[in-house]
Amino acid sequence: MNNEILRIAIQKSGRLTEKSMQLLSDCGIQLQNGKRKLLSPATNFPLEIYFLRDDDIPQYVEDGVADVGILGENVLLEEQAQVNTVLELGFAQCRLSLAIPKNEIYTGVDYWEGKKIATTYSNILKKYLAEKNIKADIHAISGSVEIAPSIGLAEGVCDLVSTGSTLLSNGLKEVEVILKSQAVLVANQQLSPQKQQILAQLLFRIRAKQAAANNKYILLNAPNDKIDEICALLPGMKSPSILPLRNSNWSSLHSVVQEQAFWDIIDKLKAAGAEGILVIPIEKMIV
Ligand code: PRP
Ligand code: ZN
Repeated sequence: MNNEILRIAIQKSGRLTEKSMQLLSDCGIQLQNGKRKLLSPATNFPLEIYFLRDDDIPQYVEDGVADVGILGENVLLEEQAQVNTVLELGFAQCRLSLAIPKNEIYTGVDYWEGKKIATTYSNILKKYLAEKNIKADIHAISGSVEIAPSIGLAEGVCDLVSTGSTLLSNGLKEVEVILKSQAVLVANQQLSPQKQQILAQLLFRIRAKQAAANNKYILLNAPNDKIDEICALLPGMKSPSILPLRNSNWSSLHSVVQEQAFWDIIDKLKAAGAEGILVIPIEKMIV
């Protein structure tokens, strides 16, 4: 009997919050408290959700206050916590970049020698500058980094860029990408066997959702003499299902294709004689 509960930390309010909640909901997990409290138990899965500041999540997971957490790789790298990265989640993609006022002329990475850089990511920046053998003055601040150059606090910034609109509206331009980041699931390094088992169930559900999101169910009608040619174009899971149609010269082909592959082969399918092509989203996919 497994009476343990897995405690998962997610961001209280910010870029990752909504997608993290959506991920749990896509996994069929329902929460007891509709409104966001600090803690919210799931009603149909052995899980408790802790809503925390993203910067605090690595430490909470390392200390075992939470068992697992969802956070940006950028925060994970900055906080340097001892946790295991279990799965890349593919959302909240962004980059950590260096930026300067848009009228300045950028001369390459040596530009930063002796410059003052404002950031909330001092650890990552320190490491980056050391690797490039550049001595700069890191000015660690806790927020609103993008205004630092205009108020004379620094000559450039090192900050997260997602759409780029924050830089744009502050008259800055991105000149170096230090790292690329996305949301990841991390876990404490000493989970009990029971908690590992719950985590495995959660991962199974997340992977089924991820696989489904990347694939589409495709149906099409094909003249019988073109079936081989069309099947060769469809890189299905195993091989396409072929069903007879009322018109005995035609068949219906069913298969699963990757979203991207579909756009690559659609013209070839039509040229090969496929008609009535339908592409349907997949809810869950167990691979
Ligand atoms: C980041 C960053 C910028 C903004 C960039 O903050 O500090 O303010 O996002 O996004 P944009 O390129 O789409 O304009 P974030 O929301 O991650 O807040 P946090 O650093 O306090 O967690
Ligand atoms: Zn934050």
